[in-house]
Amino acid sequence: MDWMKLRVARKGQAAEGVATFELRAASGSDLPAFTPGAHVTVRLPNGLERKYSLCNDPDDRDVYVLGVKREANGRGGSIALVDQVEEGDELQVAPPRNDFALVENRSGYTLIAGGIGITPIVSMARHLLNNGVTNFHVYYCTRDPASTAFLDELRGPDFRGRVTIHHDQGDPAKAFDFWPVLEKPSGRHVYCCGPRGLMDAVRDMTGHWPSSAVHFEAFSEAEAQKPDDTMFRVRLVPDGEVVEVPAGVTILDALKATGKDLASSCESGTCGTCRTILVAGEADHRDLVLGDDEKSRFIMICVSRAKSPELTLDLRSNL
Ligand code: FES
Repeated sequence: MDWMKLRVARKGQAAEGVATFELRAASGSDLPAFTPGAHVTVRLPNGLERKYSLCNDPDDRDVYVLGVKREANGRGGSIALVDQVEEGDELQVAPPRNDFALVENRSGYTLIAGGIGITPIVSMARHLLNNGVTNFHVYYCTRDPASTAFLDELRGPDFRGRVTIHHDQGDPAKAFDFWPVLEKPSGRHVYCCGPRGLMDAVRDMTGHWPSSAVHFEAFSEAEAQKPDDTMFRVRLVPDGEVVEVPAGVTILDALKATGKDLASSCESGTCGTCRTILVAGEADHRDLVLGDDEKSRFIMICVSRAKSPELTLDLRSNL
């Protein structure tokens, strides 16, 4: 990766527990361009590398803005960034990539965010508005007003009539009902970023939509892991090689550790890059890509695991 050294020109607060970081080149020059929905990989003070969506309008050519929620129960990435990085510090940042790109669509957009999943969605909304596109609507689900990033802006005059904000007070019984929004495929494209539960709900309610019109982005790479995950084996055809996949390690990483050069991008089960042929065994599908009719034949190896002690995979679909 080609790392850039960028300066934290400003650190702010977008909501309770959500810090914003404006990253600029020390020279003030333009940064590599990005498109709405893009993310950057940041190398953190503790050595970890994490992906963060860019939340500003891509037309701001000299700045990347990150919105980062301090995840007390996370794997330490957000805590290192929020607690240890201050204005004036330098961070190593890889150029933007986009696995959640906003496609041009005359019929418009339904943009759905949960919690800190608002970061790519607000970039899209700002970009659309600033470019005169008005046929979009943002649905934004959070616990309460205090935890709602960018609340004043999204409630402000620019977005009037284009944003629905729903607070559930942390009670699943008070979750927003998306069925009236998604019941009839409208020609719009749906973009959804948020916790796994929200994305699963949207996925379930858009099963009858064209799959090319529904897009997901996961903001937490750890969410696909479960505490009771166990080790299983992967057998590869045609050569019969067997690789163990320990708990806490993805199939993708276990195979890469043996020196295989495999295609992947989002590594969160949303982009489709790591689609691999499933020859035998019962998969535990955890992605948001495969349709029900594909699950017996394919597996997304960046997140999915096994229900059976062994899976047989054909990597020739991936290499
Ligand atoms: S790398 Fe994106 S779905 Fe696996």
